[in-house]
Amino acid sequence: MKKKTMEHFGELIHGGDYNPDQWLDRPDILEEDLQLMKKANVNCVSLGIFAWSRLEPEEGAYDFGWLEKIIQRLYENGIYTILATPTGAMPQWLTNKYEEVLQVDETGVRNYPGKRHNYCPTSPVMREKTRQLDMRLAETFGGYPAVIGWHISNEIAGNGSDGSCHCALCQSAFREWLKEKYGSLDKLNAAWWTSFWSHTYTDWSQIRSASRRGENLVHGQTLDWKRFVDSQQLDFCKEEIKAVRVHSTLPVTTNMMGFFKPLDYFKWAKELDIVSWDCYPDWHSGADELRTAVYAAAAHSLMRSLKKKNFLMMESTPSVVNWREMNRLKRPGMHELSSLQAVACGSDSVQYFQWRKGRGSSEKFHGAVVDHRNGSDTRVFREVSRLGERLEKITQQTVGTCNRPRIAMVFDWENWWAVEDACAIDNNLKYQEVFQDFFRPLWELGVDVDMVDMDGDLEGFRVVIAPLNYMYRKGYAEKVRRFVEQGGCYITTCWSGETDDTDLVYTGNHPLEDVLGISTEEIDVPDGYCENSIQYHGTDYRIIGLCGLVHAKGAEVLAEYQNDFYKGYPALTRNFYGNGEAYYISSINEHQFLKHFYNDVLQEKGLGCGLQVRLTEGVTVNERSKPADEDGGEQKVWFLQNFNRTAAAVELLKPYQNVETGETLTGKIEMQSFECIVLRNC
Ligand code: GAL
Repeated sequence: MKKKTMEHFGELIHGGDYNPDQWLDRPDILEEDLQLMKKANVNCVSLGIFAWSRLEPEEGAYDFGWLEKIIQRLYENGIYTILATPTGAMPQWLTNKYEEVLQVDETGVRNYPGKRHNYCPTSPVMREKTRQLDMRLAETFGGYPAVIGWHISNEIAGNGSDGSCHCALCQSAFREWLKEKYGSLDKLNAAWWTSFWSHTYTDWSQIRSASRRGENLVHGQTLDWKRFVDSQQLDFCKEEIKAVRVHSTLPVTTNMMGFFKPLDYFKWAKELDIVSWDCYPDWHSGADELRTAVYAAAAHSLMRSLKKKNFLMMESTPSVVNWREMNRLKRPGMHELSSLQAVACGSDSVQYFQWRKGRGSSEKFHGAVVDHRNGSDTRVFREVSRLGERLEKITQQTVGTCNRPRIAMVFDWENWWAVEDACAIDNNLKYQEVFQDFFRPLWELGVDVDMVDMDGDLEGFRVVIAPLNYMYRKGYAEKVRRFVEQGGCYITTCWSGETDDTDLVYTGNHPLEDVLGISTEEIDVPDGYCENSIQYHGTDYRIIGLCGLVHAKGAEVLAEYQNDFYKGYPALTRNFYGNGEAYYISSINEHQFLKHFYNDVLQEKGLGCGLQVRLTEGVTVNERSKPADEDGGEQKVWFLQNFNRTAAAVELLKPYQNVETGETLTGKIEMQSFECIVLRNC
């Protein structure tokens, strides 16, 4: 039999973070864990994530015996292990003996020992202690059939740290990084526009990290500091990967955090074998569940897009978190729906934080599969077990399939950093939120979307949507031009193509002026007395955000502003270029506009939901498929999900089979609140 790995597990993974190191004095609990895992259909756990002080209780003295016993015992009972490197939290002996491993904040103050995710990524001591431990772990466990992959560290740069360390070691590494990038101070000064306010650098040693106590208004510098922080954290992670690979060929991952601003996950994904992430949407928080559902779908899609491959949902809560102001229980049904939503979007797992609630410290009341009391006799345990059974039922139809969208959206981390730091017309602009608003109508139409960054490949996509691409990275405009020339449909918005990759404003034409057929001038943010709207195909739509004043230079005008001194200016344009076309949306408009406009474009392109269905608001579909190959014919599976708090009717326009029950469904069907139905062709 082929060795199971977390990349090729052969079935959907169901399990989660297991922290037996907190219970080593309670063999009865460890025994109960095993029995309950079997009962809940758990087939895999993540071990050792915060266990450094158990694995190396004293400097250089390793103790892996307890872990070995647990891994083996689980394996004898059919449960596999994803093994962590435990650098998410440091042991007392390390932080107390070697101060340099602790981060220094932007005001120059060094942390005391404690908390987690707060090591200095440059510290040679930290790197060496990590290397030693990781190599030994890999040497001991890398060949175990039970162990299926490496979970490198934990939520790197998360939990409020943002990953930046401003110590002397990091300052000097930053300067070296800049020397490598720019070669000379003249080039750096020019790229950063430092003659502004007389901030020209005359010696490399004058350059420091961006900080609110010092320089944070030279945008080229703050941008490069963010890039450096990201690359230094990634470099540390790569060292960890190198260390485990000395003795192990198992796949590596690190648990990401979705739309997490400090780290450019497109870069990170290149170093990993499989992407995984921790998913904690704020269910039951607003007037309805839809905004949250859209957020989760967008984040799952982003994670899948990083490698254009299935990913793992490494953590989620089976019930409640404990770190929001208010922490609501997942209502009955939501656990199954939100877990199947992850699978629908390309996850090959449903994993939890955590298996069992601890008794003390800050996570004692965080949700877990097993509560402090009552073993398997709890609502949460029953829902988790039921989900485990459902995952088993859909495994065969699902494993090996993936979402294969023909539409891409451009999401770019460096652009995120730059656009929110621009000091321009709207200083509350939230790139990720606007992006999500542009994603939502597609989610409502049941159409899957991939995400690419500005370095990404556009090949194979029919439509590319690029909202707020303020900063163009090198080569981006040329790539888009080629894409449109060759027949692609490109949709972009105001506040795009403003600056180059050190945030210097373009002084000539908009870099895509020829493709878009427009020229751009001012930008406004109408509010209060100067509210405005646009008219598209006879319907008025309110403007709710930025509003660009542009002139048609060959493009056809499809919508115009209705009021104010720019009444009659183009609000939506289309330009034919080469074999393709490019749309420019001048303003950020109310949601219904995008739905109307996307519908028109998709209809014209013959793109739409792959399931023959009439959807209702709040119900969506994702499609996973596998093309025909020598192992068999084409395989397709659809996940029909009702996020409404009430029942909802949809209409299947042809018969489909319910994968779990075998039943044939067609015509009008009523879906229960929070129901997910998994379908295949009859
Ligand atoms: C994650 C973290 C876990 C746990 C969880 C609680 O951010 O990786 O260790 O703290 O949050 O929601």
